Amino acid sequence: MIGRLNHIAIAVPDLAAAAALYRDTLGAKVSAPADLPEHGVTTVFVELENSKIELLHPLGENSTIAKYLERSPDGGTHHICFEVADIIAARDQLRAEGARVLGDGEPRIGAHGKPVLFLHPKDFCGTLIEIEQV
Ligand code: CO
Repeated sequence: MIGRLNHIAIAVPDLAAAAALYRDTLGAKVSAPADLPEHGVTTVFVELENSKIELLHPLGENSTIAKYLERSPDGGTHHICFEVADIIAARDQLRAEGARVLGDGEPRIGAHGKPVLFLHPKDFCGTLIEIEQV
């Protein structure tokens, strides 16, 4: 069902420092910060040859990233995102397998303008999984 790894998202307490780390220390191509108010995050995209890293920083109140950073002040891997061809078919198949889909189960438009859903980390080895229709 899942296709390529679309991105790994890392929550960071200092977005400028994290962007500089990926740009200067690791020598990666790094975007300018982008605010996504509907998701409660400011993101920096790191372009890799075979995938992407998304650096996530809280934006506004009630950001889930802020809650994550309260538990992990140094930051850490927040979720990983796999591509799927048909998000509704993937959702229905995952539910049939007993996986919990977060929220109301209806895809939302994610950071890349494509429909996404999130799967409960307790069902996936403690890792929050995002699926994105590409
Ligand atoms: Co994501």
